[in-house]
Amino acid sequence: MLQCTHFADTSIAVEDADGALVGFISGYIPPSRPDALFVWQVAVDPTCRGQKLAQRMLTALIERCRAEQSIAYIETTITPGNAASEALFSRVYSDLKAPLQKTVLFSRKEHFAGQHDDEVLWRGGPIGQPQA
Ligand SMILES: CC(C)(COP(=O)(O)OP(=O)(O)OC[C@H]1O[C@@H](n2cnc3c(N)ncnc32)[C@H](O)[C@@H]1OP(=O)(O)O)[C@@H](O)C(=O)NCCC(=O)NCCS
Repeated sequence: MLQCTHFADTSIAVEDADGALVGFISGYIPPSRPDALFVWQVAVDPTCRGQKLAQRMLTALIERCRAEQSIAYIETTITPGNAASEALFSRVYSDLKAPLQKTVLFSRKEHFAGQHDDEVLWRGGPIGQPQA
């Protein structure tokens, strides 16, 4: 509920024709990097997957944030081998012609005591001005 209130300007939801929630992306602008949109969670209902819904939500959210918040970078963290996340963000960065930098943000050894894989920061940008 906090994501839907405090972070509504940087999040997006999709409902079907009956009003059921079928897709959601939460994001926020990191306080120290006001030119970046950090994408936190992406979820699409299992019945609606494989229809580019995640891609269309993410693209729409980025366009909104570009227009209203002047963002130039899109960030997320991905665990290596998460094929769905890697494919989704690769596609969107490619469509935006956004150069991509990958760095380990939280490390398996240093931060997770070997109990969780690395979380790699994918930072794409800068992206240009919003389309007219
Ligand atoms: C991951 C998830 C959001 C994808 O939603 P979706 O609407 O089916 O994705 P899209 O149809 O927009 O696909 C976007 C791209 O990701 C690829 N992709 C989607 N799911 C994939 C999967 N499971 N494995 C590999 N690639 C996948 C698509 O092929 C497409 O790439 P392309 O344009 O190069 O063909 C959805 O499967 C989900 O909610 N999973 C559970 C939650 C989760 O894992 N979230 C984190 C992932 S960002």
